[in-house]
Amino acid sequence: MLSEAFTRTAPLYERVRHVIPPIEWPFFADDVEAILALKRQRNAVVLAHNYQTPEIFHCVADLVGDSLALARKAMAAEADVIVLAGVHFMAETAKLLNPEKTVLIPDTRAGCSLAESITPKDVRLLRQRYPGVPVVTYVNTSAAVKAESDICCTSSNARKIVESLGAEQVIMLPDEYLAQNVAAETDVKIFTWAGHCEVHERFTAAEVRGLRWQFPGVVILAHPECPPEVVAEADFSGSTAAMSDYVAGHKPGRVVLLTECSMSDNVSIQHPELEFIRPCNLCPHMKRITLANIREALEQNRHEITIDPAIAARARRAVERMLAV
Ligand code: 13P
Ligand code: SF4
Repeated sequence: MLSEAFTRTAPLYERVRHVIPPIEWPFFADDVEAILALKRQRNAVVLAHNYQTPEIFHCVADLVGDSLALARKAMAAEADVIVLAGVHFMAETAKLLNPEKTVLIPDTRAGCSLAESITPKDVRLLRQRYPGVPVVTYVNTSAAVKAESDICCTSSNARKIVESLGAEQVIMLPDEYLAQNVAAETDVKIFTWAGHCEVHERFTAAEVRGLRWQFPGVVILAHPECPPEVVAEADFSGSTAAMSDYVAGHKPGRVVLLTECSMSDNVSIQHPELEFIRPCNLCPHMKRITLANIREALEQNRHEITIDPAIAARARRAVERMLAV
């Protein structure tokens, strides 16, 4: 027998029926309904990254986007509580930009291999090795690492940020592949760090060539966290938002998004007429976030993000400097 929540949330199910079989919806309906009520009670918003599963992204999120968009939207959010459906560094960035608001991450284990790859001490040692060279830090880092940096960047604005400094050389960390992909497009000399995204480093150029052979006419979009040889074989490279915009603008009949798996689900909902070929890799950190723990986060006010004020002030400066470019 169908639950009442199932019937009441039927219009929301319509949004995701393209990618969620009807048999699965009863498992989501209660939590979706509870989250919508809790958001009203607590004056809360849910911010969801493009890698969140469709029932989160399309049914309970108020604001969605790539890392840059989430940072900007967090700042504009008129709410007392922000639930970040994404990974820990995103919640920290939201807190840096909204020190007065309560920012919650539903599972503290939602980390990131890039953020794990570097410590504040590493950044200080790099500065000693390259004296006077500015440090551009990808937002996929802890607040403590951002605090050691001159400016942050995301995959949306990396080249623009590097060039905005007017320097001949920059240190760009921690994503070696993003840094190499930017270096291929700019005259600025870039010193890299050997951090990698565990999701994007697994794509290979041979895989891209295989896709072209297997699916004639396919348009291949790659995230710039992919190795440079993968980006070189792709038709386009950009942040998750840029990939989504590319699909909306070009409407390729057959397309592959070389990135995290939920991205194709979320974008394909908006373009059911297009064929999405789906070799993808799951991000185990993004997948820590579920409807059930978003509901618990709102019910129990957990897990609240706090940042040491001394670190926060310096990290905020690096993020705000990026947002001003
Ligand atoms: P963007 O959404 O900013 O492209 O970042 C991708 C990513 O890997 C975030 O974890
Ligand atoms: Fe980090 Fe990669 Fe997961 Fe993004 S997809 S959160 S960069 S591990």
